Amino acid sequence: MEHKSEFNPLNLCRENVKSLAPYTSARDEYVSNGTKMVFLDANENPNETGVNRYPDPLQRSLRSSIASLKNLPENQLLFGNGSDEVLDLLFRAFCEPNQDAVITFPPTYGMYGVLAGINSVQVHEIPLTTAFEIDMEQYRSHAFTATKMLFICSPNNPSGNLMDRIHIEEILNTFKGLVVVDEAYIDFTEASSWANRLSDFPNLVVIQTLSKAYGLAGIRLGMLMASPEIISLLHKIKPPYNVNELTQSKAQERLEQGERIQSEVNLIVAQRKVLENALKELPFVKEVFPSEANFVLVRVDHADLRYRQLLDQGIVVRNRSKQLHCENTLRFTVGTPDENKKLIETLYTLS
Ligand SMILES: Cc1ncc(COP(=O)(O)O)c(C=O)c1O
Repeated sequence: MEHKSEFNPLNLCRENVKSLAPYTSARDEYVSNGTKMVFLDANENPNETGVNRYPDPLQRSLRSSIASLKNLPENQLLFGNGSDEVLDLLFRAFCEPNQDAVITFPPTYGMYGVLAGINSVQVHEIPLTTAFEIDMEQYRSHAFTATKMLFICSPNNPSGNLMDRIHIEEILNTFKGLVVVDEAYIDFTEASSWANRLSDFPNLVVIQTLSKAYGLAGIRLGMLMASPEIISLLHKIKPPYNVNELTQSKAQERLEQGERIQSEVNLIVAQRKVLENALKELPFVKEVFPSEANFVLVRVDHADLRYRQLLDQGIVVRNRSKQLHCENTLRFTVGTPDENKKLIETLYTLS
């Protein structure tokens, strides 16, 4: 980063966050880890239910597993109730309501805009090109006044493509605020994570989730990877018990199934190809956008009609037609081989 030595997240964050003393909970100091200690510090119910104790606010055991999985120091990780929560924490730490702005590249994941709205932060949209690439001309000519964060979704939802690494690198080198790269779908690609470049870019924040490749959308476990300075600012404002005990233990259990997860991901990637090939043969399909994720965006003749026809057959897909550059598109999540077969067979019966 050209301005590496100048970058200090304290210069970006909300004034009140700088001086904030975080809530310290009893469980910051000691966790019930099977030893014979008597815990009379947190006003819990002593009767055993399996979850009568507060969860570890620092998620120490999970943190250690994920740190080794991601090959990152533990102080470069923050966990939340889904990535949506860690994204919200970024807004609340860095953007002053009614004053600051963020940049998004539509069409993209809708929550960046929703969270900006909730936090009363302005959104400057720089549309992707019709090939769903970042429009670097427009980026370079943008006025960045009071712009604290910029969101790059790669692979992008809903288009499914990875953003060009050269473009991302230029943005990391030139944007003075935080560059948030959302990698919710990274495990479905061969591409390496931007988390491997954290030491090169102090303004880089990488978001991942256990909701997609790890098959744990129901437990809500999102993670944020960044410099230790950014992580400690976010730790100041995170609710102490934001990741519950059931989530921590279920995530831990699942992380031990590395080979199984990889074979499930391989199957989804192989099925994505099957789906893409079958979709290309349909007379009413105009374009199948190449995907690096676990879904495929498809342009059809009449999206509303095809959406309703599928619904009548009990198949729910996502109509993305209202998004920029996505007129008449449907987004199909890759299902099990049986579900995909049913989808393809049904599509072939439509006229
Ligand atoms: C790009 C992107 N980021 C984040 C999320 C949300 O992830 P989580 O389930 O961890 O909140 C989604 C969910 O669809 C997504 O598409």
